[in-house]
Amino acid sequence: MEIALRELDLGDGRDVFEMLQEIPPEENGFMNSANALPFEQFPGYLRKQRESSEGIHLAENRVPQTIYWLMVDGKPVGFGKLRHCLNDSLRRSGGNIGYVIRPSERGKGYGNILLKELLKAAKDRGMSEVLLTVDEHNTPSRKVIEANGGVLASLSDGACSYWVRLL
Ligand SMILES: CC(C)(COP(=O)(O)OP(=O)(O)OC[C@H]1O[C@@H](n2cnc3c(N)ncnc32)[C@H](O)[C@@H]1OP(=O)(O)O)[C@@H](O)C(=O)NCCC(=O)NCCS
Repeated sequence: MEIALRELDLGDGRDVFEMLQEIPPEENGFMNSANALPFEQFPGYLRKQRESSEGIHLAENRVPQTIYWLMVDGKPVGFGKLRHCLNDSLRRSGGNIGYVIRPSERGKGYGNILLKELLKAAKDRGMSEVLLTVDEHNTPSRKVIEANGGVLASLSDGACSYWVRLL
């Protein structure tokens, strides 16, 4: 099995687009704004994400965020968002990292692999710790976080906050 975490690229094509159509627009707080997008608008979506990664044209209350695709044997199976820093809103909900596996590829261990790769990417960016927030009842995601060294810092109003140290 060949695993690669690939940063979003302006040349991304149909394979990534089709994965984004399979992933719901919202699930457990994870947002996929590319769902239901016409293919003609995909290049604009990619450009916007690229700008966000570089901190260009950020909407109010947004921090720079980089998107990575998880590729398994050359096929996109999921993606993650890495937010380079936190603000008050992300500290409450969202954290530094969000991730999703396309429904047809769940239950195969890819969630664990995706977070492991995202944590490496965060470390490569010089981050020393990351915050992950997750719904108390999102068992698969909590297992993924705990398998990757997440330490539960708080649980309130049904939301868990985990920190992962990267040093
Ligand atoms: C969370 C998510 C990424 C997990 O992806 P996945 O590829 O199915 O996860 P894995 O196959 O790596 O499994 C992770 C763990 O969850 C467990 N698991 C998977 N599905 C489960 C289920 N329905 N109920 C209970 N446990 C489950 C697995 O057994 C595994 O635990 P283990 O390592 O102890 O065996 C995926 O369910 C998803 O995309 N959910 C929607 C988006 C989301 O919730 N993102 C997280 C927001 S914080």
